[in-house]
Amino acid sequence: MPKIIVAIDGYSSCGKSSTAKLVARQLNYPYIDTGSMYRAVTLYFIQNHVSPTNPKEVEKALQDIHISFRRQDDEGKNETYLNGLNVETEIRKMYIAEKVSDVAALVQVRHAMVAQQQQMGREKGVVMDGRDIGTVVFPEAELKIFMTADPLVRAQRRQLELMEKGELIGIEEIAENLKKRDYIDTHRAEGPLRQAEDAFYLDNSFITLEEQVDLVVRLADEQITEL
Ligand code: DC
Repeated sequence: MPKIIVAIDGYSSCGKSSTAKLVARQLNYPYIDTGSMYRAVTLYFIQNHVSPTNPKEVEKALQDIHISFRRQDDEGKNETYLNGLNVETEIRKMYIAEKVSDVAALVQVRHAMVAQQQQMGREKGVVMDGRDIGTVVFPEAELKIFMTADPLVRAQRRQLELMEKGELIGIEEIAENLKKRDYIDTHRAEGPLRQAEDAFYLDNSFITLEEQVDLVVRLADEQITEL
């Protein structure tokens, strides 16, 4: 069976990763969450006092950063490892969310991560989500989805996600963080978040997760049969 690349881009907290994970499971492809890579870099910078404004320090840090994903269970759940340590829980915290967009805007960081992502998808058969997958990482991806949702719906989803992990944060603070990240993500010079011309636009404010997974799998199947 021919394999394709499914590129899912979109705003923060609009359900990209939940969708991508389930689509990957149905297609029997690995799922690569590129946001977690930028989060892991941010964690490393904080822990090692790397100044994002010092290109030499950033360069040295990038040489010392090794990110990998390891499958945790039969369900195919992948967790993020930074230099051999499981950082999955840590990188989801609010203090990382507050800094990650600034780190992800650095050209050196983007070049290093994009190269690694292209390597991971070189044999196709992957579902990858992020901000620049369909535009920069895999402009030739067979299926591109651009996901979005109503800002309030996104803030509510993020609040629930953080609550499940034991962090109680007010809806205004979350909405503010999302707004700030949207701005930085869409306005940076390198690999800004934007919809690729050939991407399928999917607003999931008022459809269920199951409905959107079915839709994306159907679009993927159509692409696979066309090959
Ligand atoms: O998807 P997420 O919220 O975990 O992503 C965290 C941050 O990383 C987000 O603010 C934007 C950035 N990011 C990026 O710049 N490019 C990607 N391909 C993925 C994420």
